[in-house]
Amino acid sequence: MKSCSLVAPAKINLYLEIIGDRPDGYHELVMVMQSIALADRVELRTLAGEPTRVCCDHPEVPTDDRNLAARAAMLMAQRFPEASRRWGGVEITIDKQIPVAAGLAGGSTDAAATLVGLNLLWDLGLTVSELQDLGAFLGSDVPFCIEGGTALATGRGEKISPLPTVEGLYLVLGKYRSLQVSTAWAYQTFREQFGDRYISDEAGLEERRQRVHSGPMVSAIARHDLSKIGNELYNDLERVVLPVYPQVVQLRDTLVRQGAASGVLGVMMSGSGPSVFAGVESEAQAQRVREETARAIPNPDLELWATQAIPTGIDAISS
Ligand code: C5P
Repeated sequence: MKSCSLVAPAKINLYLEIIGDRPDGYHELVMVMQSIALADRVELRTLAGEPTRVCCDHPEVPTDDRNLAARAAMLMAQRFPEASRRWGGVEITIDKQIPVAAGLAGGSTDAAATLVGLNLLWDLGLTVSELQDLGAFLGSDVPFCIEGGTALATGRGEKISPLPTVEGLYLVLGKYRSLQVSTAWAYQTFREQFGDRYISDEAGLEERRQRVHSGPMVSAIARHDLSKIGNELYNDLERVVLPVYPQVVQLRDTLVRQGAASGVLGVMMSGSGPSVFAGVESEAQAQRVREETARAIPNPDLELWATQAIPTGIDAISS
């Protein structure tokens, strides 16, 4: 029996621009992704002679093959049948800390941890780039989650180019427990409402790529300019999610109002939402804004975290 324990961080999107539709039904994106300290813990244990199973006591996390981590183990078994025969199934135990369907890549990061963990347990010696190629079969955010840190993501989100580390960015993150947004719904609604922006041929996509607005965010990151990073936060999916979810608007507005008093750098929804984050420059400030926001919205359904940007993705802490 072999086992390993991994930290699987959530992500936020500092920037998310939809530049066109694609023949495969996905959307062509330009994103700046950032790992954050809020993380799941994933434990893997080989199970000689037994099938793979997922253990998770969170009521909203499926433990059958709808779970992306289970699918990651299935993919590894298909690709590496000899190792799979040798080691048998794997028990994947997920300590869920990242909220589900929140725009924080919670499922994707568990899948990324499973790929990284099985690479270690089965002594496969796969490189980060080989793991990312496998991750792309599971979901658009999985390749980013493997290496994490700060990165530009293009294509449908699976093409990753590392960016300089963002240091000293603290965050207040909020999500209503009972609200979940389907990523597929958010993209589909964007397509329906802003269809005039869509181009499906390669020449048109290339022309749109020339006009993306991510340049100022990328150069703010290169210059380690936190206040400019705050000014350049952007997410196209806010345009479809905010009109349908008034609580998200209320949370966003409250964080913006706190910001005027407490020096918040910027406020934005992450991914397809409904989580919203505010960037600040110190841990003490993050705690203060978290407390003030909890006082301003005294709703037990609202969960708030003080967290921070981190420079790493999946981290194996023991094996
Ligand atoms: O890749 P993933 O399975 O995480 O995506 C979930 C859904 O989000 C997709 O089925 C698709 O509807 C939508 N999506 C998209 N374009 C992307 C990424 C995701 O339309 N680039």
